[in-house]
Amino acid sequence: MSDKRKVIIDCDTGVDDALALLLCLKNLDVVGITTVGGNVRLENTQRNTRYVTEVAGRIDVPVYAGYARPLLVPLQDASYVHGVNGLGSVQVPEPSKPLEKQHAVDFLIETFMAREDVSLITLGPLTNIAHALLKEPRLAQRIPEILTMGGSTTWGNATPAAEFNIFVDPEAAKLVFESGIPIRMVGLNLTRQQRASQEVLDQIQAMDSPAARLAAQLFLRQDGKVGQNNFCDACAVMWWIDPGVITKSAMMHVVVETQGEYTRGMTLCDGRGFQANRREVDMEHEKLYEPLPKGLEPNVEVALELDQARFSQVLLDTMRRYSEG
Ligand code: RIB
Ligand code: CA
Repeated sequence: MSDKRKVIIDCDTGVDDALALLLCLKNLDVVGITTVGGNVRLENTQRNTRYVTEVAGRIDVPVYAGYARPLLVPLQDASYVHGVNGLGSVQVPEPSKPLEKQHAVDFLIETFMAREDVSLITLGPLTNIAHALLKEPRLAQRIPEILTMGGSTTWGNATPAAEFNIFVDPEAAKLVFESGIPIRMVGLNLTRQQRASQEVLDQIQAMDSPAARLAAQLFLRQDGKVGQNNFCDACAVMWWIDPGVITKSAMMHVVVETQGEYTRGMTLCDGRGFQANRREVDMEHEKLYEPLPKGLEPNVEVALELDQARFSQVLLDTMRRYSEG
């Protein structure tokens, strides 16, 4: 009987999703993985996901395909970042592991309506989750918690205001953030604190396993140098793998902008009630020092500070365990 946290992971497997999946498949009890169009097209995100489960030696974990495009707008992918196939310089062979026939949304509904011991991690646009909530509204009372990589308390990457996962499908994100489901948000304000390093890569390259070899490839840019990859999704899943990696968080009121001419896809995080202890760091949130105006109660726990050394330690320990079999 595994004492690991049981999760479903919804992802748009690109480079950082792949590293996050390697971390989760060794450290959490992954009940299933659902895929969505995002970094690249759905046909690649689901294929990449099946490939990563094979590399991790976890072909027992079912992989489902969900929606190829957002609720209302065409997909704007990030192939300019993740490469056409989504895994950068990694050549992805056709996995022998088959895709499940059931639609991802039906798997999400079936699982959460039947079980209360499974939580949800999202690493891509929230399209599948929104469709599941629309198809079965009772899910809002059934999903215990969502850990999501998305948004930012500061600035974006897709635009100055919007982080990619939210920007791709703001309507879906708004629906999920307003669902009432407890949400932990790991945004760019947190993930930009994480930097891939040559030192960590050197240690991974010294390991001997398919997982370590894939992880090493994910560190490398097309020119063979260590990229400035924040590995956003890997930062997010660390919160449930080793909570000590996230050294500061705060409950904040967060809304998703869908109408703004310049701010569509922004997660507007209300920091007005916070006071920074270190005056020189105004964006640091210590604690809510006065209640917010009515109707703006905190609805999201927002990650604020990362322990980079501990992140690297968990990553290296996990890769070592892949190499030990
Ligand atoms: O903004 C970073 C997020 O968008 C990550 O999840 C990355 O994989 C992309 O989906
Ligand atoms: Ca992702």
